[in-house]
Amino acid sequence: MTTSGALGGKSFLASARPSSNVEQVLKNLEWPGQFPFKEEDFQRDDVSPDSLFYKAPRFVTHIDDPAIAALTMFYSRVLPPSNSPGVSILDICSSWISHYPAGYKQERIVGMGMNEEELKRNSVLTEYLVQDLNGNPELPFEDNSFDIITNVVSVDYLTKPLDVFKEMSRILKPGGQAIMSFSDRCFWTKAISIWTSTDDTDHVLIVGSYFHYAGGFEPPQAVDISPNPGQSDPMYIVYSRKASTA
Ligand SMILES: C[S@@+](CC[C@H](N)C(=O)[O-])C[C@H]1O[C@@H](n2cnc3c(N)ncnc32)[C@H](O)[C@@H]1O
Repeated sequence: MTTSGALGGKSFLASARPSSNVEQVLKNLEWPGQFPFKEEDFQRDDVSPDSLFYKAPRFVTHIDDPAIAALTMFYSRVLPPSNSPGVSILDICSSWISHYPAGYKQERIVGMGMNEEELKRNSVLTEYLVQDLNGNPELPFEDNSFDIITNVVSVDYLTKPLDVFKEMSRILKPGGQAIMSFSDRCFWTKAISIWTSTDDTDHVLIVGSYFHYAGGFEPPQAVDISPNPGQSDPMYIVYSRKASTA
């Protein structure tokens, strides 16, 4: 297998994809020995600092209402019950809404994002911080401190995803879960090139590869929670638990 440049990443995607069903692509997958993506795959059309792009707040929703409802329903099945003692949650690439079930509360829910005004308005958060993860992918938290990490429609903006996923593995408690969700929409100029040049099934493989090559996670799984295929925005989840032995 050739693994140089964007072509290398794409040839991995072409050879790894057993079918177009997003729930199947991560099953029985033999990952290449090395991370198949290269620096070029993480380049973007807009190379200006992310702080400029996110300077003005956007109080909008980035997916349609049925897709949000599907995500909230998924969360209601997998998140710890509201007000569970000692539970900590981190929402990375967060904004003014986190899509958790209505009234959801935990002792600690931290939001990390790019715009303070957006984060300030997010009523589910107990604390927030502004940090450009492409400038500094370190997550400023102690080891083994979070039960859940969520990231909604934003994993495609990460230019150093392995660094961020390694950090996620470090700060999750053993057995803690990272839930990446995405649709087929994005800020085109800010998404990485391997994302904008591939399709939804490939995106599942790409996010799955982040979990696999970061290390410390159980094999990632994918779920298609698209509410009304063909009518509403599609919605996909790729998730994994931190291995208990990590
Ligand atoms: C499409 S919005 C999604 C916001 C929110 N997760 C939601 O579901 O509404 C993309 C988000 O990614 C975050 N983001 C983009 N680039 C980032 C970076 N370099 N570092 C940290 N966060 C970033 C921004 O804060 C922005 O709110």
